[in-house]
Amino acid sequence: MKNTISVGLLGLGTVGSGVIEILDDHKESIQHKTGCDVTIKKVLVHDLSKPRQLPAEATQLTDRYQDITEDPEIDVVVEVMGGIDHTLSIVLEAMEHGKHIVTANKDLIAQHGAQLFQTSQRNSCDLYYEASVAGGTPIIRPILDGLSSDRISKMMGIVNGTTNFILDKMTRDGADFDSVLKEAQDLGFAEADPTADVDGLDAARKMAILSILGFSMPFNLEDVSVKGIRGTSLSDIKYAKQLGYSIKLIGIADHNEDGASVSVEPTLLPVEHPLSSVHDEYNAVYVYGDAVGETMFYGPGAGKLPTATAVVSDLIAVIKNFRLGVSGSAYVQPQFPKQLKSRKDQLTKKYIRLHVMDQPGMLMELTKIFAQYGISFDQIIQRQADQNDERELMMITHQVSEEDFDQAYNELEALDTIRSIDSVFRVDGGK
Ligand code: NAP
Ligand code: HSE
Repeated sequence: MKNTISVGLLGLGTVGSGVIEILDDHKESIQHKTGCDVTIKKVLVHDLSKPRQLPAEATQLTDRYQDITEDPEIDVVVEVMGGIDHTLSIVLEAMEHGKHIVTANKDLIAQHGAQLFQTSQRNSCDLYYEASVAGGTPIIRPILDGLSSDRISKMMGIVNGTTNFILDKMTRDGADFDSVLKEAQDLGFAEADPTADVDGLDAARKMAILSILGFSMPFNLEDVSVKGIRGTSLSDIKYAKQLGYSIKLIGIADHNEDGASVSVEPTLLPVEHPLSSVHDEYNAVYVYGDAVGETMFYGPGAGKLPTATAVVSDLIAVIKNFRLGVSGSAYVQPQFPKQLKSRKDQLTKKYIRLHVMDQPGMLMELTKIFAQYGISFDQIIQRQADQNDERELMMITHQVSEEDFDQAYNELEALDTIRSIDSVFRVDGGK
């Protein structure tokens, strides 16, 4: 039996340097848990000229991935470089060479999870990716192991640290969007291209992964309805507060006899809802099981050491398997065909903010359109707009189908008396 496990690290940025730090700081406890030493033998980077701190003299820096995939002494490849197509080919090649894989890359898993799983099975390699969803908060293992005896009906939560950080700073400090985004980038939470965070794609990838695992159906990214936080203004945050709500970027995946739906969008939640108290870059995911009821997983969703904790825990799982002579994977072949809900079957409450002409009968004209589609209101506030002849209206509907709301919205857009429809958000959280 080997006394030392050799690791090839792909990437030495925020997460990669955290992996090295944890392996070094927790060396003795990892040795105790696995019964062997762990050495980072080689590290792949993009730019060899950048000044860096390497863990030990035994570690070699390279910009040729083949130095890692083709090294017969390397047992495990830890992928923390990000990217999709190029990274996919490196990881597939590593598995063809018999390397076990740990990755933090949700883009890769959401898009190519099935192919990676099949290749890992064919080559008897492990494939683990706990850090890909909710950073340092365990969620993949709880779904696959802890709740494996149950039938999951709904998952709902905050799965992107950057956007939660931005919305939280806007809500609590009235901060400006661009400067908080810059802060999140400096702190290492944001993706290399932060549009993936801001436009909801990162959260959508995570919700796709959770839905595949939770509902055992082969979802892909196109099945997730996505809206990012760019259109969320300080005005909406302020009015939401007046109405008793906070605004969070929420992923919801639910499943019943009508099918499943998966979405990510800015959502009004009652201020007393537990997800309203998830601050900074923290993440939280509710998982509802038929038998267990409601469970909640909460913790840091991004950042160097929290994310590296999940990566190194996966590495420990791989080493344990390796020493037992078994292989494992955090992926499962979906059991059911995909069945998506129609928009008619997707029910939600809506917040809508609009500017209308200040004239008699205006409100009646507007509510008549909604009434035609069976839509009634839970709350309405109105105020004098900046223009003298305009009113600004903020309305929250009762439960409505997405299809009915779309139709009412189209009719509203055509009304001459409506100057602008400024924003529409989902409202959730049982109020
Ligand atoms: P990062 O700070 O940008 O670091 C990326 C590292 O990979 C850098 O060392 C870079 O080399 C190297 N690299 C990138 N492309 C490469 C290429 N084509 N060839 C060789 N080396 C390459 O990224 P990160 O924040 O650590 O994120 C890494 C992965 O973890 C991503 O998949 C991300 O989505 C995921 N993740 C991140 C967090 C987080 O909080 N940051 C949380 C969960 C998951 P250079 O140093 O030479 O530029
Ligand atoms: N950019 C991601 C986030 C990193 O902000 O949540 C963790 O996946």
